[in-house]
Amino acid sequence: MKIAVYNCREDEASLFETYGKEYDVELSLSPLPPTPETASLAEGCDAVDIITTPVGRELIDIWHSYGIKAIATRTVGYEHVDYKYAAELGISVSNVSYTPHTVAEYTVMAMLMSIRKMKTILTRYMGQDFSLKDIRGKELCNMTVGVIGTGKIGETVIKNLSGFGCRILAYDIYQKDSVKALAEYCDLDTLYRESDLITLHTPATEETCHMINKKTIHSMKDGVILINMARGVLIETADLIEALESGKISAAALDVVEGESAIYYKDFKYKPVGHHEMAILQAMPNVLMTPHTAFFTDEAVGDMVRYSIEHCVNTVRNGR
Ligand code: COI
Repeated sequence: MKIAVYNCREDEASLFETYGKEYDVELSLSPLPPTPETASLAEGCDAVDIITTPVGRELIDIWHSYGIKAIATRTVGYEHVDYKYAAELGISVSNVSYTPHTVAEYTVMAMLMSIRKMKTILTRYMGQDFSLKDIRGKELCNMTVGVIGTGKIGETVIKNLSGFGCRILAYDIYQKDSVKALAEYCDLDTLYRESDLITLHTPATEETCHMINKKTIHSMKDGVILINMARGVLIETADLIEALESGKISAAALDVVEGESAIYYKDFKYKPVGHHEMAILQAMPNVLMTPHTAFFTDEAVGDMVRYSIEHCVNTVRNGR
């Protein structure tokens, strides 16, 4: 069987080679994104392997005409694929589940960097300003941390946090006994009202879109810190900016931002980015922004490549 791999990065190529051999599949690796213009790269293939580029009806129709049976996205989130339409055509869409430690550890790092004002400390150090003014931090052990979403990543964040001695509140529609041992489940209102630091670990759905907005921010503690390593659309960005400007939110760490998909993973050096809200946030000393890199470890990339191939094999060869 043959798989067309789109958006294959240099750091993934040797992993595809290794796992391609292991699963005995032929791979056609391309650095190009999946678009109607590049659809023909999948001609003669049984499955396609994609990453973050949106895949809509037009492209799915072309792949369907080539007899593509599976679309595997090497991501946890799959909202960028029109999976309902693919299912109508009998094409299976699968996501991957990679090590949760990659995002969970990054989340704890972002929390600590935020409460210790690390962006200011590092920026000042580069300018040889070693003064202490305005960089006094706080200790995590004295804080209440609210974790929204206790799937694999949220649960791992809670496990990691449990060593710090902070109080941990958790919210999810599905409650887990393993989480109950380390955190107190509560409703969202309580979590917003009592948390000093709130971290988001929910998928992007119609229900969660803009769940952090003017109204929910109003119900949070004054000076709350917001961490988003999940999806940009969870936060109404204009409302976040207003709350950071007023001081209602005292700091934020954002690995994701609304409208990032045309920007992140590209090099905009010497070019206008054209995302005004991103520019405003990035200029704030109390906002730590990273380009959706929380997932990016050796372990996670290995899992992404391996499990995406495995899903294609399960569908095409094993009919699962
Ligand atoms: C995911 O796996 O869903 C991610 O957020 C990481 C991806 C953008 C590479």
